[in-house]
Amino acid sequence: MKIIVTGGAGFIGSHTVVDLLENGYEPIVIDDFRNSKPFIIERIKKITNKDFVSYNFDCGDIKKLSSVFLKEKPDAIIHFAADKAVNESVSNPLKYYHNNISTLVNVLSVVNKSKVKSFVFSSSCTVYGVPKKVPVSEFSPIQQAFSPYGFTKQIGEQILSDFAKSNPGVSISLLRYFNPIGAHPSGLIGELPLGVPSNLVPFITQTAIGIRESLIVHGNDYDTTDGTCIRDYIHVLDLARAHVLAFSNYLKKNNKPLILNIGTGKGSSVLEVIESFKKVNKTNLNYTFGPRRDGDAPCVYANSSLAKKVLGWEHKFSLEDALSHAWEWEKQLSIL
Ligand SMILES: NC(=O)c1ccc[n+]([C@@H]2O[C@H](COP(=O)([O-])OP(=O)(O)OC[C@H]3O[C@@H](n4cnc5c(N)ncnc54)[C@H](O)[C@@H]3O)[C@@H](O)[C@H]2O)c1
Repeated sequence: MKIIVTGGAGFIGSHTVVDLLENGYEPIVIDDFRNSKPFIIERIKKITNKDFVSYNFDCGDIKKLSSVFLKEKPDAIIHFAADKAVNESVSNPLKYYHNNISTLVNVLSVVNKSKVKSFVFSSSCTVYGVPKKVPVSEFSPIQQAFSPYGFTKQIGEQILSDFAKSNPGVSISLLRYFNPIGAHPSGLIGELPLGVPSNLVPFITQTAIGIRESLIVHGNDYDTTDGTCIRDYIHVLDLARAHVLAFSNYLKKNNKPLILNIGTGKGSSVLEVIESFKKVNKTNLNYTFGPRRDGDAPCVYANSSLAKKVLGWEHKFSLEDALSHAWEWEKQLSIL
């Protein structure tokens, strides 16, 4: 079975390509490396000892995408390619509307003319905004987005819901990720933030290795156990697995998307993540407290029971595993 993976050299895409190869699928990566590096493709081959096809172009380019679809005749597509920095989306919203919305529309117009039977979309728990109740289930209300990035995920879901109505032959899964962290246990692939990371764990690992002087913890006066924000951190390999299960288990004809939360169901505070990182990796970490950031919800974690029911998916890795794997990856990066 041939699966097009847009953004397959990125953080989540690369781990999904590993899972696909290890489970006998034939991934075809399309990535223009705007937020990743070509060496990741070689690393995936090294981890799996398997070869696969990859293309370097902007997947919003309909002409190039159509010719790849004609040549490869894919059965399914996992669409990761998007820009993802929340802060940047506030300062440069058009970049996000262009890449996260126009590109999606272009990809769908090619899918529309193909024999693709399954489409998996990277959505996000940001669609829930600041939830009134936790854990958050798929039936929790969608709240107004705080950033253009969050809004692009809401619009993306709407576009795919409309697309599903007129294309019942394509089964669509919208996976709402909570907070992906970690890396492959080999330390060969992981998150590669270009510039200052906006996510907690790469900021922690870059501080621990000495790239950054100190980690700023944004807010310690929230109404949570220790005053810092609580999030649901999910190992990227567990998340990758959910994609593979989504397109392989959900090949039913349907005129509406399958929407699933992908999280562990356990919330951890920023301070708990820091303490866990120090303990599991036997290292020190400088951090200071700074002001709250606009739009940060105090506490978000998932109810993922639907993913278990529909896909048989459950997370396997712990927070400690993820922090240890992320540290291995950071150490390998430093000697590149
Ligand atoms: N990492 C997170 O915290 C998180 C959380 C929720 C949702 N998501 C979503 O998951 C998806 C993957 O995230 P990630 O963390 O792996 O990001 P990433 O930036 O590491 O990977 C995205 C990949 O897509 C490529 N890309 C982007 N636009 C492209 C285009 N037009 N044509 C070809 N290649 C393109 C980039 O070069 C990169 O390799 C994104 O849609 C993101 O919004 C991520």
